[in-house]
Amino acid sequence: MTQAPVNVTVTGAAGQIGYALLFRIASGQLLGQDVPVKLRLLEIPQAVKAAEGTAMELEDGAFPLLAGTDIFDDPKQAFEGTNIALLVGARPRSKGMERGDLLEANGGIFKPQGEAINAGAADDIKVLVVGNPANTNALIARSHAPDVPADRFTAMTRLDHNRALAQLAKKLGVPVTELKKVAIWGNHSATQYPSVQHAEFGGKAIADAVDQAWLENDFIPTVAKRGAAIIEARGLSSAASAASAAIDHVYTWVNGTPAGDWTSAAVASDGSYGVPEGLISSFPVTAENGQYKIVQGLEIDDFSRARIDASVAELVEERDTVQKLGLI
Ligand code: NAD
Ligand code: LMR
Repeated sequence: MTQAPVNVTVTGAAGQIGYALLFRIASGQLLGQDVPVKLRLLEIPQAVKAAEGTAMELEDGAFPLLAGTDIFDDPKQAFEGTNIALLVGARPRSKGMERGDLLEANGGIFKPQGEAINAGAADDIKVLVVGNPANTNALIARSHAPDVPADRFTAMTRLDHNRALAQLAKKLGVPVTELKKVAIWGNHSATQYPSVQHAEFGGKAIADAVDQAWLENDFIPTVAKRGAAIIEARGLSSAASAASAAIDHVYTWVNGTPAGDWTSAAVASDGSYGVPEGLISSFPVTAENGQYKIVQGLEIDDFSRARIDASVAELVEERDTVQKLGLI
């Protein structure tokens, strides 16, 4: 192994996504089978002991690519020199908590983390926010990292994208590998718009192969409410599938999208498709040379327009709330 290890910081490392994620990173699935990694785990003080237990298990895995694991309860130290930051730890909504309270509680987490990334992360830092509300948490972190290019802050809608692929593959009776140009637009919430307007399978338009009623009454709500359905079934929110999507998001960011296809990620809007500039919203994106780029020039039909606008309106509302709270 000649390459210096890539530093990967994972917050919320002792949580359920952390437990599913860390072993996949250590095994080389985040960055590739030839890239050594050094893990930097951030937890709150009460959960450091549990993170130490996970670090013991990581050691016991004897992963050839794992160059070491350090544990911190201070964001400044955890993000020092880091190349990839996976912001998973967040404050969950508790009983009786209003949306504004949730945004405020998360502001207390993502503001100092943004500041720490600004102060100490490596120049090539790439940030993926998984902790909910992911888009607005990413917006908060980014607004406290003025020296980091805005396009390095992303939020995860790859899980929604993967859920959409799985539902379509089942409906059409084809493997997921046949599906191209599916897109998630907007917020990682129930207002998101999983779109097949431009999607293809085996070179044919998916929109011609499924009826509109199925799209509106089955596909879109199934994908958009899948997180709630998992919570209902498991008694806990999705963890292994979320970890898997985080691996996919970063792997694609670093290694690129295949020709003729795209994926979905929540990235800083450049004003494309009427999404206010700066908002972190999900778009169809390609990745090349370590950069996610919004796919340009797509025709948007009336149905899609209304759905995109509705989800973007929710993001604008979240942005206005955190602005009023002085969090951005
Ligand atoms: P969890 O409660 O099991 O773990 C969260 C961990 O974060 C805990 O160990 C907690 O101690 C830690 N934490 C809290 N505040 C922290 C801080 N300031 N710094 C560092 N660590 C901190 O939750 P989970 O199931 O692992 O989920 C984590 C988050 O991911 C939740 O917000 C969940 O809603 C979200 N999520 C997002 C997606 C997505 O697609 N974007 C999918 C699934 C879950
Ligand atoms: C998911 O999509 O599975 C999660 O974001 C759900 C949640 O509320 O944690």
